[in-house]
Amino acid sequence: MNKVIGLKKLAAEIEHCADCKKDSTGKMVFGEGDPDAKIMFVGEAPGKNEAETGRPFIGRSGKYLRSLIRNILNLNEKDVYITSPVKYLPKRGTPSKKQIDTARPFFMKQLTIIKPKVIVLLGKTAVAAVLNQDISILKEHGSLIDQNNKIYFITLHPAAAIRFAKFRSTIASDFDALKIITAKLGWGSESE
Ligand code: URA
Repeated sequence: MNKVIGLKKLAAEIEHCADCKKDSTGKMVFGEGDPDAKIMFVGEAPGKNEAETGRPFIGRSGKYLRSLIRNILNLNEKDVYITSPVKYLPKRGTPSKKQIDTARPFFMKQLTIIKPKVIVLLGKTAVAAVLNQDISILKEHGSLIDQNNKIYFITLHPAAAIRFAKFRSTIASDFDALKIITAKLGWGSESE
């Protein structure tokens, strides 16, 4: 099946999932970018701005993430895919384990349709949703997991770097490492 049609069908499935909306509010935020993207950025759940507009990562942390993609990776936002495993804004802000577990099968379908080569896991929820692991991001950030012909790269959620300035150099150096990986795969530009 054509990827665009597959993604549309999946979005409609999520719209019809009552459990996905439980204890949540606002519009569904499915994700955006190139359905053929080789790299996917995975966050946590929509924030207020995203739930109002239906677009992922458009608030403060989103602008920061998009600047890292452009300025460090030298990639165009339109050529990557940006999404979050949890598609609705949880009323309590951070998604619960139940909300992550409910979202997981839908997110996995999205991953199977897009088939990115590199999956950037932005924070603890992304790791919990995609790898089903409970890890310490501060210990594991910068790690790369090469599994099933995919590369998972763990880093901080950009909101952490917005909240605590000391994490800005941490996330930037993770993106420097990510750039080396994408350059080895022949994407983006190695020249500054
Ligand atoms: N944080 C996320 O994890 N996802 C968004 O779309 C916005 C903020």
